[in-house]
Amino acid sequence: MTLAAGLGLVVAPRLVRADEEDAKRERPQPGDLLVKIGGDPAPLAAKDVPQGGPQILAWPFDPAGKTVRDGSRLNKVLLLRLDPAGFDEATKARAVDGVVAYSAICPHAGCEVSRWLAPVQHLECPCHFSQYDPKAGGAVIGGPAPRPLPALPLKTVDGRLAVARPFTARAGFQQS
Ligand code: FES
Repeated sequence: MTLAAGLGLVVAPRLVRADEEDAKRERPQPGDLLVKIGGDPAPLAAKDVPQGGPQILAWPFDPAGKTVRDGSRLNKVLLLRLDPAGFDEATKARAVDGVVAYSAICPHAGCEVSRWLAPVQHLECPCHFSQYDPKAGGAVIGGPAPRPLPALPLKTVDGRLAVARPFTARAGFQQS
């Protein structure tokens, strides 16, 4: 065996692992599908999202590399299915069959936006009670959040929900 071949045997597996790690940490990419966190691993369709809420959580899934992008919590996506008649124009353009997608990470201090206030159809962060309107681009309705929830524009691929474009803004929060 040559020295190069010997080195190749040692180095190649490490490179593959590094690539996989990068892919898992990469933010949602156009063409990614979405898989429910802690649920059926099959990619989600619009009908899998409960009509009228509450939201479900999903990871982006790269179908080419068969990679679930669960290497960063900033990749957590929340999905809601609502009546699109109430959406503003930008939200309508990003939705599929009433399903909208947003970052699940609060831009205030990074908690998970986990509450659904059904009577007013707002999302709420349990840490400092910022509220967001998913029908209006994730706009801040109240609380200390400095900016809207980043939206994730959707499309369909073979009847499944898929990412059309990257997050509309950086996911996560800025430490002061
Ligand atoms: S972390 Fe969400 S409101 Fe503060």
